[in-house]
Amino acid sequence: MENPKTQLPIGVFDSGIGGISVLAEIIRILPSEEFVYFADTQHAPYGTKPEGVIRALSLNATGFLCRTGIKSLVVACNTATSVAINEIRKMCPFPVIGMEPALKPAVELGPAGKILVMATPLTLKSKKFNALAYHYRHLAEIIPFPCAGLVEIIERHHPQKGEITEYLSHLFSPINKEDVSAIVLGCTHYVLIKKEIMDIAGNKIALVDGNYGTARHLRTVLRNERLLNIAGTERPRISFKARISFHVSGNESEVITKCKHLLQQEGIVCG
Ligand code: DGL
Repeated sequence: MENPKTQLPIGVFDSGIGGISVLAEIIRILPSEEFVYFADTQHAPYGTKPEGVIRALSLNATGFLCRTGIKSLVVACNTATSVAINEIRKMCPFPVIGMEPALKPAVELGPAGKILVMATPLTLKSKKFNALAYHYRHLAEIIPFPCAGLVEIIERHHPQKGEITEYLSHLFSPINKEDVSAIVLGCTHYVLIKKEIMDIAGNKIALVDGNYGTARHLRTVLRNERLLNIAGTERPRISFKARISFHVSGNESEVITKCKHLLQQEGIVCG
């Protein structure tokens, strides 16, 4: 007999629009699912605030999504995951999927030059990230590359390129690109500006993010827990009509319009 919980939505949260880059990947491989997306824009950015503040905000976001009645939660934010994933898991009576900078796939690309990890200052300072980097230290030279201020620019300006390109040119100016083999996009916002990063970094450097891996991991966990909504998944799709309800702590209508626009660019229409 089908588990009645399969029909419940999946909760997804981030400090802002960055988590939409993860949601798009999830919708592509789980088109029958319904979603509740929470953007905590009133408190964005997360990555330059103290750890305790972000832990509290992450638990608030989790509590809000729990109350909407979800069957699983995706923390589509490396920063929140890095400082609060254990506490979030304790709060949730269902599977919780977090995100971490995708060092494993970057290292597996080897033989390596340096691997730059673009992420928020808080993610790069966290115990969790440092343990991960320590784990792979014998396989590559891993360089933390904090990008304070970039999330704000993306929230404000995406998709206008000017200020983003200026920020990135300045950021990369001390870097010798010949020494770098890969850049890990360790913040879900940065995936939204992949093209701009590639333009600055050059096409010899691989850009790696954890979004597809996270979507696949979610599918595996839901399948194992018998929580997957499989209605209609057998049909191959060219375009996607997604069922998403959006919640925003800041300027609601502007952020929701941005989220829908970003999904539309990925071929996903919100129903
Ligand atoms: N998108 C987030 C992350 O993956 C949060 C960035 C922020 O708000 O600073 O880390």
